[in-house]
Amino acid sequence: MKTMLEVKGLTKKVQGRTLLREVGFAVHSGEICGLLGPNGAGKTTLIRVMTGLIRPTAGSIRVAGVEVHRERSRALRKMGAIVENPVFFPYMSGRDNLINLALLDPGLPKNKISSRVEEVLKVVDLVGRADDKVGTYSLGMKQRLGIAQALLGHPEVILLDEPANGLDPIGMRQLRELILKLNREEGITFLISSHLLDEIQRICKRLVVLKDGAVIWQGETGELSGSRDLEEAFVELVSG
Ligand SMILES: Nc1ncnc2c1ncn2[C@@H]1O[C@H](COP(=O)(O)OP(=O)(O)OP(=O)(O)O)[C@@H](O)[C@H]1O
Ligand SMILES: [Mg+2]
Repeated sequence: MKTMLEVKGLTKKVQGRTLLREVGFAVHSGEICGLLGPNGAGKTTLIRVMTGLIRPTAGSIRVAGVEVHRERSRALRKMGAIVENPVFFPYMSGRDNLINLALLDPGLPKNKISSRVEEVLKVVDLVGRADDKVGTYSLGMKQRLGIAQALLGHPEVILLDEPANGLDPIGMRQLRELILKLNREEGITFLISSHLLDEIQRICKRLVVLKDGAVIWQGETGELSGSRDLEEAFVELVSG
């Protein structure tokens, strides 16, 4: 099986504090992997290092074999992400926000932008609202626009930091179905951080669990949960 994400010996220190310590794991191509951990465990920090937003103190991240902090633009071209809440201009339409972001992407040929924007709008089911200002969008629509933005450059892998935060059950279902569809139909690999363990249990085959900046567990979801709810197994694991 091809490895899509490979994290090795990743350490991040800030002002004498160790936020990540020798984090290592791999995500195979075509997998949906959950990133779990209590508040402050280091999930957002890890995703920020993985997407090249901040530099690691030590260690490496490879995306389809390309090292993020050595061949940044080549690695980032293979990756899409939503880190924290996606930021859009509220006074611009969803479509214009995407066009704007696409123009900043050196990997997208200028003559392909308009057709790619229409494609991703269709994928996330926002065509009907594409002319409305983002300021008028619901949270679920903003999250879907975030995924549309992540899809613009035809990524092989998408990293999502708490994508379902604040969504109602319908928004959550739309997001889940979108992730599963992109995984199934386009073979996109996902790494998703979340505290919503029911959602994670439903869609993630594998899990990486962080605590105090270190990986304390990794493996198949069913191995951790057994016959229990993932929540129960998780609470036991992190309080142990
Ligand atoms: N720039 C920074 N300087 C110092 N400490 C930081 C910095 N960024 C994050 N931290 C600390 O690193 C730790 C991990 O934070 P992080 O946001 O990665 O956790 P998390 O797992 O995403 O938590 P949550 O589930 O609450 O989102 C926290 O103790 C946080 O205060
Ligand atoms: Mg976080």
